[in-house]
Amino acid sequence: MAAATATASSAKASGPSAPRNRNDTFNQKDKPAQVRLSNITAAKAVADAIRTSLGPRGMDKMIETGKKEVVISNDGATILKHMSVLHPAARMLVDLSAAQDVEAGDGTTSVVVLAGSLLIAAEKLLKKGVHPTQIAEGFQYAAIEAVKILEEISIPINLDDREFLLKSATTSLSSKVVSQYSSILAPIVVDSVLRIVNPATDHNVDLNDIRIVKKIGGTIDDTELVPGLVLNQTAITSAGGPTRVEKAKIGLIQFQLSPPKPDMDNQVVVNDYRQMDRILKEERNYLLNLVKKIKKAGCNVLLIQKSILRDAVNSLSLHFLSKLKIMAIKEVERDEIEFLCKATGCKPIADIDSFTEDKLGYADLVEEAESNGSRIVQISGIKNAGKTASIIMRGANQYVLDEADRSIHDALCVIRCLVKKRALVVGGGAPEIEISQRLSELAKTQAGFQSICFQAFAEAVEVIPTTLAENSGLSPISIVTELRNRHANGEKSAGINVRKGTISDMLRENVVQPLLVSTSAIELSTETVRMLLKIDDILASR
Ligand SMILES: Nc1ncnc2c1ncn2[C@@H]1O[C@H](COP(=O)(O)OP(=O)(O)OP(=O)(O)O)[C@@H](O)[C@H]1O
Ligand SMILES: [Mg+2]
Repeated sequence: MAAATATASSAKASGPSAPRNRNDTFNQKDKPAQVRLSNITAAKAVADAIRTSLGPRGMDKMIETGKKEVVISNDGATILKHMSVLHPAARMLVDLSAAQDVEAGDGTTSVVVLAGSLLIAAEKLLKKGVHPTQIAEGFQYAAIEAVKILEEISIPINLDDREFLLKSATTSLSSKVVSQYSSILAPIVVDSVLRIVNPATDHNVDLNDIRIVKKIGGTIDDTELVPGLVLNQTAITSAGGPTRVEKAKIGLIQFQLSPPKPDMDNQVVVNDYRQMDRILKEERNYLLNLVKKIKKAGCNVLLIQKSILRDAVNSLSLHFLSKLKIMAIKEVERDEIEFLCKATGCKPIADIDSFTEDKLGYADLVEEAESNGSRIVQISGIKNAGKTASIIMRGANQYVLDEADRSIHDALCVIRCLVKKRALVVGGGAPEIEISQRLSELAKTQAGFQSICFQAFAEAVEVIPTTLAENSGLSPISIVTELRNRHANGEKSAGINVRKGTISDMLRENVVQPLLVSTSAIELSTETVRMLLKIDDILASR
């Protein structure tokens, strides 16, 4: 087939020169438009794929990963991350969702749906003959105006206003698989963030200071915010070491309690029993010495970092630790160190010579307890603790746990957004309709292409209420028309009540979301659409 085409084209090439040239010029001129359209089609396909998961009545997706693992999720960023997207333009939408995840944490579905709708609008404008650069520019100005409108209609809040924080977290959780537990999860989310921020001075939250420990067993109902700290790891009991220590002095070591190994592979041949005994004795002395020094500093709970070079502990050192009544916990990951140090007030110790008492953390009680079929180590009554929070999450199986973890992450991000920018907008499509109407008004005052672009942008943002209505089984046309009507009459917070299938005041329905989520969705989606419009060729690199 390819050969036949090649011959055909070469036959053409050898023909009269005039028609060939004309054809070439035509192809060249047509190419940017074709590339643009194919980019738009590919990106729209991605937006279409996750459109159905928007909103509280949205559907979830089941994803089978390359390793044959199953992921069930409603989170836009998670779904897109797992989708194998090949087209470079479509991949831009995947990145867009990831960008929203970093910037705001929530709204990762909305941002892609919005971008898809803006692309459809751009496609129509292109067909009308508006130049891509003009569309890009027009959309940029429209987005700036849209953000201004959002800021205007937003409701400023205070971090002491726990009610509003709870409502925002509940709204974010309401569209997730675990939505029926939002009355339990929302207070946990709000309290854990409030525990680590200082409302007066902080303008950001480091979510690394909130630790979520997932344990299979029980249901999501049993999820709790624990006082103090819980560890992922369990205590080592193989040598009979303690599992409960009162007045604990906690040490965190980054060296190993096992015989040293040379860097290179080598072999020592021992052919004498006395020599053999000497080696064993040396090893024993070496380990005993280490453990004694640890005890001497007063440590009675020892956290040991995971090691790839050699065993972190061996049975002999465990035996000594248990004899000296030191509780040992191994397999502490490298990236946990910072959190653990902050939470327990200890300092990491890299070698035995610097193992001194001032590097230890103090707690009233370290205890390994069993609940719901799994063992967890809990540290309570910590002195000098930094600001951290630990959530212990339970669920019947791994899918539920993982999705609950992602949902809690979204809700934590929502509260983080409110710490960053302390203002709310209502949900349920209300802000989008408001933007749409005010932009349409503005469009009338603009001249030339800008006016067309503003109008197109205004119609495009209506995709959010339309999709919310569609996904809830309502008639999008009648609902959106009615919404427009209400907003025109000055009901700024009228939105879609997806539960009752009507239009209500969203503020009264307690559906609120952070301003930052909405503004960042508008800004990021417009940016991506502008970038896509300005591409006129796709080239492969070597
Ligand atoms: N109770 C509710 N009634 C009406 N609309 C709601 C309600 N709860 C949420 N919404 C709306 O649903 C949309 C959010 O849906 P959803 O949480 O599925 O997607 P997302 O936040 O964009 O993405 P993700 O949560 O996957 O990162 C928002 O427009 C929000 O206003
Ligand atoms: Mg959400």
